[in-house]
Amino acid sequence: MLATEPTQVPSAGGEQPCALELRALSKSFTLGSGLLRKGRKLHAVSEVSLRVPRGQVMGLVGESGCGKSTLAKMLLGLTSPTAGEVLVDGRPIAGANQKALARHIQPIFQDPYSSLNPRQRIAQIVGLPLRVHGIGSPKEQAARVAEMLDLVGLPGRAARQYPGQLSGGQRQRVAIARALIMRPALVICDEPTSALDVSVQAQILNLLLDLKEAFGLTYLFISHDLAVVEHLADRLAVMYLGRIVEEGSREQIFGAPRHPYTRALLASALTPEPGLGVPDIGLGCGQPDPSAPPSGCAFHPRCPLAEANCERHRPSLNDAEGGGRVACHLA
Ligand SMILES: Nc1ncnc2c1ncn2[C@@H]1O[C@H](COP(=O)(O)OP(=O)(O)OP(=O)(O)O)[C@@H](O)[C@H]1O
Ligand SMILES: [Mg+2]
Repeated sequence: MLATEPTQVPSAGGEQPCALELRALSKSFTLGSGLLRKGRKLHAVSEVSLRVPRGQVMGLVGESGCGKSTLAKMLLGLTSPTAGEVLVDGRPIAGANQKALARHIQPIFQDPYSSLNPRQRIAQIVGLPLRVHGIGSPKEQAARVAEMLDLVGLPGRAARQYPGQLSGGQRQRVAIARALIMRPALVICDEPTSALDVSVQAQILNLLLDLKEAFGLTYLFISHDLAVVEHLADRLAVMYLGRIVEEGSREQIFGAPRHPYTRALLASALTPEPGLGVPDIGLGCGQPDPSAPPSGCAFHPRCPLAEANCERHRPSLNDAEGGGRVACHLA
């Protein structure tokens, strides 16, 4: 069960707690094998603090390996944090069992095929959460499944089909139906369109937006591609080597990015780059080894503006002029 008492008292103005709040959330892995890496710690997520108000879409972007999925897994209770706290509607999720958590938070992952049982019909797959939680009679469950399939734009006949008979886009619609059938308040989308053809991507993104309005959902929307989150996110957080380096409204991030890394990501999003999952962000040298991050500002070896101070001191994530937060000595 989630802790029953909210730790955040609503403010005098009656303001509700955030749908999701992360407080200095960290996760490190101890690397087990390899002569040079043995016993070394890899800080996949470091002191991430973030607030997502109810009904908003927070985009979380950054290159492959920066810690996005590790963060998502902590929110879903699939891995436990090394330090820090996750609050859902003001209540800490630590100690909550996965079943209880599943009523509040649901994931939509990149590859629906691997998470859909190939031997079950779509109706069984989408209705499974209702059966697990014992919600409704079999007849009511079937009605709710049919309604959900319709809402995600699948034809009625899909209920009797198997995942292998559907297209990639249709399978992602099934995964969305299954995620939403329990009416969760919060949905963690981890690269939900990255495996899809570009033409299908836009359809799924629009569907996610429509469903957000229909159900009053809050999304944490993870992507390595700023362009994908552009028309979806209210706010964006940019991650680099496990840390948030910039956070702000969509207008701030796209209109006046302050961190040199955000600017580089934006430049790459504007360059068409067919068929590649990982953008060439045009920063010369590649991403550093996350188990041996650079000193000071971890971005300094790739930063076109870096000064001596950047190598020595890590900038903290401070409130920035005009709103948002940025971690850069030169911003
Ligand atoms: N179980 C694990 N053991 C050791 N290291 C791990 C483990 N899981 C993730 N990592 C490492 O943590 C870092 C962050 O990985 P994560 O999968 O969270 O990145 P990501 O941002 O989701 O990347 P992508 O865009 O490729 O999905 C990577 O360096 C990864 O190798
Ligand atoms: Mg990932």
